[in-house]
Amino acid sequence: MIHRYGLRGKLCHAPCAPRAYGEVDAGIGPRPWESALDLFTLPDFDDHEQVVFGYDRPSGLRAVVAIHSTALGPAAGGCRMWPYPSSEEALTDALRLSRGMSYKNAMAELDLGGGKAVILGEARTEKTPELFQAFGRLVESLGGRYITAEDVGTTTGDMQQVAAATGFVSGLARGAGEVGGDPGPQTALGVFFGIQAAVRFQLGRALEGLTVAVQGLGGVGHPLCRLLAADGARLKVADARRERAEQVCEELGATLVDTETIFDEAADVFAPCALGAVLNEHTIARLRARVVAGAANNQLAAAADGEALMKAGILYAPDYVINAGGIINVAHEYRGGASRAEVRAAIEKIPERLTLIFERARREARPTSEVADRMARERLQAARRG
Ligand code: NAI
Repeated sequence: MIHRYGLRGKLCHAPCAPRAYGEVDAGIGPRPWESALDLFTLPDFDDHEQVVFGYDRPSGLRAVVAIHSTALGPAAGGCRMWPYPSSEEALTDALRLSRGMSYKNAMAELDLGGGKAVILGEARTEKTPELFQAFGRLVESLGGRYITAEDVGTTTGDMQQVAAATGFVSGLARGAGEVGGDPGPQTALGVFFGIQAAVRFQLGRALEGLTVAVQGLGGVGHPLCRLLAADGARLKVADARRERAEQVCEELGATLVDTETIFDEAADVFAPCALGAVLNEHTIARLRARVVAGAANNQLAAAADGEALMKAGILYAPDYVINAGGIINVAHEYRGGASRAEVRAAIEKIPERLTLIFERARREARPTSEVADRMARERLQAARRG
């Protein structure tokens, strides 16, 4: 049966999804019969439990929700809004990011599985309340198998619109003192603790007096700089929006560096807090830092880059382990009843986990990225068996 309208209660699940998606909007995707089998052969398909394509003509919503695993609990992960050039690229991103969320949630010891939503569109110009309400209906129709939150291109304000249609949403604006709201500062806190642990492991000392090069000074990078400066680190900062970098320099006495040359800077720690894939065959050879530890998701362009870092004598803090502070915050908010102190205590466990990974990687002479993936898969498998 072909569902012509993805939202309004008629959803398209994995086996029929590309067909139904092509059916409702043939102009932007492959023909239904051409794409019917492609999902399962895409390189990023990894035994995902469910993939849902959502379409709502009145609001213009085109979205993909990928549920990678619910072995540990409902699949949680943010909703990204991005002008994907094609529906296939949106699908690929949803598949990749949702698996990343399974790993992240497993390593953060949360009772949550991994999922992710992507909305096709330009966040700066195409947002409307109706769009996010339609997205909320899509989430609602999954009956709690997927819990959404803000991500790149979406805000706590957008999530308030989503909340008009579903309760399966977190990361909402809260009053002072309450758990919730923008997860950026909590992510920054976890990254800060993680940097301290990585420096202790690799350099055998405290952060004070060391230089940290921070790439990206947004919702995570800026509060991270405040924590680093308060701990006595020297900062070199770069942001594609120069005024942000200038502000951090003025506020914290940091040194402004170029976005192109930040990789070459003399620094002890390189903290990527902007984009993914910044650690690649071109940049790793340029790094002078002996520790890479930052918030950005998917920092390694390819799995082999984890090995390249190890061979270069650089300790890499796996991104989804060190940047789990935000999802820890979101999880506590969603469950309700937690205090800020409890959230902080959960975030304080991030450095312990990282140290475990660093030790195992050293013992086995393997990249930290590989060890983290293996540990996450072990936890997922144990949950499936249990
Ligand atoms: P954001 O969008 O608030 O800030 C990103 C900053 O990077 C912006 O100021 C932007 O101008 C800058 N930037 C973009 N391209 C750059 C370049 N080539 N060089 C230098 N700066 C550049 O994003 P946010 O929330 O701070 O997140 C940063 C990273 O951390 C992202 O990769 C995000 O996926 C990841 N992350 C964020 C979490 C959160 O709680 N916000 C949670 C986990 C991961």
